[in-house]
Amino acid sequence: MKNINPTQTDSWRKLGEHFKEIGKLQMKDLFEEDENRGADFSIHWEDFYLDYSKNRITDETRSLLLELARECKLEEAISSYFGGEVINKTEGRPVLHTALRAKEDENVTVEGENVLPEVQEVKAKIKAFSDEVIEGSRKGYTGKKFTDIVNIGIGGSDLGPVMVTESLQYYQNHLKVHYVSNVDGDHVHQAIQDLNPETTLFIIVSKSFTTQETLSNSITIRSWFNKTAPEEAVSKHFVAVSSNVEKVKEFGIASENIFPMWDWVGGRFSLWSAVGLSISLAVGYSNFEALLKGAQKMDTHFKDTDFNENIPVQLALISMWYNNFFKAESEAVIPYSQYLHRLPAYLQQAIMESNGKSVDRNGDKVDYQTGTIIWGEPGTNSQHAFFQLIHQGTKLIPADFIGFKHSLFQDKDHHDKLMANYFAQTEALLQGKPEEEVRSELEKKSMSADAIETLLPFKVFNGNKPTNSILIEKLTPESLGKLVAMYEHKIFVQGVIWNIFSYDQWGVELGKQLASKILAEIENNSVENHDSSTKNLLKFFLK
Ligand code: F6P
Repeated sequence: MKNINPTQTDSWRKLGEHFKEIGKLQMKDLFEEDENRGADFSIHWEDFYLDYSKNRITDETRSLLLELARECKLEEAISSYFGGEVINKTEGRPVLHTALRAKEDENVTVEGENVLPEVQEVKAKIKAFSDEVIEGSRKGYTGKKFTDIVNIGIGGSDLGPVMVTESLQYYQNHLKVHYVSNVDGDHVHQAIQDLNPETTLFIIVSKSFTTQETLSNSITIRSWFNKTAPEEAVSKHFVAVSSNVEKVKEFGIASENIFPMWDWVGGRFSLWSAVGLSISLAVGYSNFEALLKGAQKMDTHFKDTDFNENIPVQLALISMWYNNFFKAESEAVIPYSQYLHRLPAYLQQAIMESNGKSVDRNGDKVDYQTGTIIWGEPGTNSQHAFFQLIHQGTKLIPADFIGFKHSLFQDKDHHDKLMANYFAQTEALLQGKPEEEVRSELEKKSMSADAIETLLPFKVFNGNKPTNSILIEKLTPESLGKLVAMYEHKIFVQGVIWNIFSYDQWGVELGKQLASKILAEIENNSVENHDSSTKNLLKFFLK
């Protein structure tokens, strides 16, 4: 990939000038001037309809942003990404989560070897294992069928599987799936307290198999298990997903119970691998496969579609427009589906661990903004929580509204109400409520002129708040796969243009190192040399 400083490009300079001209422009006026704006600024692809017309952009903005993508050699970067080049340079690895969902007859090579046969082998293992557990032919040590699954992992080894399992709850079978992630002992003890060791299967998921939280939780669970079950029972109840086979074996898990993963799959992009075993168990392998198929379709769309009609590319560029020119600090993701309640948390890791970088690909400090802060909650709950700030606060918060044409339980009354809110919010954010409208509303309530003037400023909405509407036919494993892959590629595009390495995460290391040093001090009850704040806190804790 070329290391181009985006701020030194012609298009960036032009975007800066363009911003001065249109920064204050009202979207309302753009809609008035062009009655086809809704259609012009939208993309209809398969069961996805992306409307990005409610953004502070014109035709010229769009062209300049596309020019920026071209100047930053996005097209070449996409070939390097899918072609298995070592684009994660600081860790010396390719980035190939796309290979996990590639069509069987494709050829994806790492160090000269096609990795797809290996991927297929692991998929077959996931299928066989899931089928046996679901139908009950694989049993626990006392011959009983499994009823509960516990996924032990953290970060990418937890957030992806838990987000998908929650999102696809409607498709779930009889197995109850639990997730234990936090090193907080209350998490693990709360999770296992009502479980029956005879009917519970544990999946330890850790790419590195060195993560403190996951190992501590696994040790705690195994000793809880062995309080009632004999040591030999471990092999029937514990499996692991990891790329560190040696460490897994040291932990006492037999080779046949290990599901491998590869260096070229980043943790936060790994739900498509055996890391998704809990998904396959929860909803069955065919649904897991449909999830992968959806992602594969989005990969093809991203790889082969002109940038102008390319969903991840357009979303990435618009988001950069706000981040780098409007100086927006954050972005909200608002799914109008309760099932997607963990999507914002999942995207926080995917986006912020990837693009939260301040050194460019040349190793120089950047002097422009990179990764956005992501947050969100499902609508309509969020409307009754933080929407006040989006509507009337001082910050510009571009938001993605994700909705579905059909609900799963097909309760028309509820779904119409939900979607009325979905449409109303983006329209309200666009239109706002001008002074004249507020005044005439208050006049109708026969308030005095003085009272009206006093209340007026508080009831005015400025509007002009940007949103993307992503409207999808129905929440299915396949459409969810497309949605997640869409955000993965948005991350990639932004990383390429910001000229940063999106696929390492050195920033999480320092805290980990310090925690192990401090743990030793806590265990020895001796506080070493720290700043006075940390020292006092530790003394207070230890007293
Ligand atoms: O927080 C850092 C991190 O390395 C994440 O990137 C990763 O998803 C998580 O820890 C868990 O890592 P592992 O799967 O190796 O236990």
